[in-house]
Amino acid sequence: MQAATSEWWKTAVIYQIYSRSFFDSNGDGFGDLQGISGKLDYLADLGVDAIWLTPVYPSPDDDYGYDTTNHCAIDPRYGSMDDFDRLLKEAHARGIKVIMDIVLAYTSDQHPWFIESRKSRDNPYHDYYLWHDPAPGGRVPNNWLSMFGGKAWEYVPELGQYYYHYFYKQQPDPNWRQPEVRRAQLEVFKFWLKRGVDGFRLDVFNLYFKDDQFRNNPPVTKENRFPGLEGIRPFAWQDHIYECDRPEMIPVLKEIRDILDEFPGSYAVGETLMPTAKKAAGYCGPDRLHQAFNFKLLECPWSARRFLQAALDFESALKDNWPNNVLGNHDRKRIAERYARNGDDARLRVAAAMLLTLRGTAFIYYGDEIGMRDVHLRRSELLDPLGKHYWPANVGRDGCRSPMQWDSSPNSGFSRSRPWLKVNSDYPARNVAAQEKDGNSLLNFYRLLIRCRKQHPALLDGDLVPLTVRPKKVLAYLRRNRDETIMVILNFSRRAEKLQLEADSGGSKWEVMVSTHGRTSIDGVHKMSVLNGDEVLVLLKSG
Ligand code: GLC
Repeated sequence: MQAATSEWWKTAVIYQIYSRSFFDSNGDGFGDLQGISGKLDYLADLGVDAIWLTPVYPSPDDDYGYDTTNHCAIDPRYGSMDDFDRLLKEAHARGIKVIMDIVLAYTSDQHPWFIESRKSRDNPYHDYYLWHDPAPGGRVPNNWLSMFGGKAWEYVPELGQYYYHYFYKQQPDPNWRQPEVRRAQLEVFKFWLKRGVDGFRLDVFNLYFKDDQFRNNPPVTKENRFPGLEGIRPFAWQDHIYECDRPEMIPVLKEIRDILDEFPGSYAVGETLMPTAKKAAGYCGPDRLHQAFNFKLLECPWSARRFLQAALDFESALKDNWPNNVLGNHDRKRIAERYARNGDDARLRVAAAMLLTLRGTAFIYYGDEIGMRDVHLRRSELLDPLGKHYWPANVGRDGCRSPMQWDSSPNSGFSRSRPWLKVNSDYPARNVAAQEKDGNSLLNFYRLLIRCRKQHPALLDGDLVPLTVRPKKVLAYLRRNRDETIMVILNFSRRAEKLQLEADSGGSKWEVMVSTHGRTSIDGVHKMSVLNGDEVLVLLKSG
C-alpha cells in the first residue's frame, strides 16, 4: 500500500534503538551516533521504516539518559550535532525516518533550571519545579510515592522546602503550569522538527501535570490494581490518580499537535504511563497524539486467547484511531526472556508473525529480531536504579539493554573495548552475522514477514477479522481489504494440533506466503487438518 505521506506511520515498522547499546564506532565501550549510521544498511535490509533513538541528550546518567540536562543538544559520548545531522541525512537517503525520544515530564537535577531553582525561594527559576512547604511537623506534603522507591518528596534544608520527583530524586518534575516552562518545553519539539526529524516518542507524557491541590492518592482497589507493578511496593498499593492523567494535559496535547502539523508528515507516539486500552485510546486523535502505547500485548502471558483479546480491546477502544503493537522495549524483559523455551526460537517466530500481521504500527525492539535474551547480572553488577532499589523483588531493566550482538568477535562486535554493560554470553552463537548466513534464522524470518507486509496491502490497511478456531491454543484471523484476503494461523501450542476452523472457506484456494514448516502449498484450509507445534502460516486467498 502506498500510504499517504502524512500517514506513513500507520503502515510503518518502527525499530527502537537503545542508543548506547547499538554500535560503538570509537572504541569507548559506549554506543554512539556514528555507530548507528554505520548500521543503517542492516536496518534497511531488515525493512524498517523508522528508527526511534532512546535519549542521546547530555545526561549525568542517573537514569541512563532519561535524566537530561539539555533537550536540544547531543551528549558528547554519542557524538556531535554534526554526527546527528549526518545520521538523519543518511537515514533519510535510505527511506528511514528518525524519531526522537523526548523527555519532558522531568529533567536531571543537573539541568540549569533546577540548579537555579534550588538556590533560593526568590530565584526566578524557583517555580520552574514543584516545590512545597512541609506539612505540620516537617512531614512530607502528601502521600505521593516515587515509582523508583521511597517518597516522591525530597527535602532541601537550605530552602526549608520539598521538591517533587515521580522517579529518581535526581529527576525533579518541572512545573508545566509555569508559562515559561510550558513555552520552553514546546520549543523542544520545534528545535528537532526544524532539524528534520520525523517524529517523537513522548516519554510518560501523561505525567506532565500533577494535581494542583496536591491531594493524597487513595489506596488501590481490586478493580483498578495495575498489572506489571509486581515488586514495586508500596507504590503499587496506591491509585495514582493525582499525579497522572490530569485533565490539564489535553490542551497541551493539542498544542503539541499544532506544532507537529506545521511540519507535514511528523508524528508522535506517547508512552502512556500505567495504560489501559481506553486510556491510551483517549489520548489519540486529530487534536491529540497520533498514537499512544497501551502495552497490553507486551503484558500478555503466552496465550492465543489473551493476545487476541488484547488486540481486539485496543481496536474497539481506538475507534477511528490506529493501533500500535509492541512486544518489547527498554523497560521490560525481552520477548525471548518472557516466552522462549531455552535456546529454542520457535515461539519467537509465532510472536514475530503476530506482531507484524496484526493491524497497526509495529514496534521492534533492537535485537529481538535475532532473539536476544536478557543478560543476567549479579546484584553488584546492577546499574539500573530501579533494580538497585527493589532487588530481588524486581531486578531492574539492565537485562534487556545489553549490547547488540553483531558477530562472534570479542564483545559481540559491538565495541573494541569493554562495553558499558555486559554482553550476553550466548553471543558467539546468537548474532547477526550468523543469522544472516542461515536462511532459516529468526532474522531472516523477520525480514520475510516485513517484506510480505510491504507487498500485501491487506496486511497494512485491511480489517482484522478474528476466526473462530479450535483448539483454543490456536490463533487465527483474516486481514482483509477490498482487493485481498490474508489468513494468519498461529499455533501457540508446542504440540501438533488438529485444526478446526469454523469460518472455513470451503473451496477457496490459498497460496502459502509464510510457513515455518516448509509448506509450499495448501489445497484448502479445511483439508489441512493438523498444525505442527509452534507453526506459523500466512496464506493469501487466490481463488
Ligand atoms: C520512562 C522511560 C524509562 C525511565 C522512566 C523514568 O518510563 O521509558 O526508561 O526509567 O521514564 O526516567
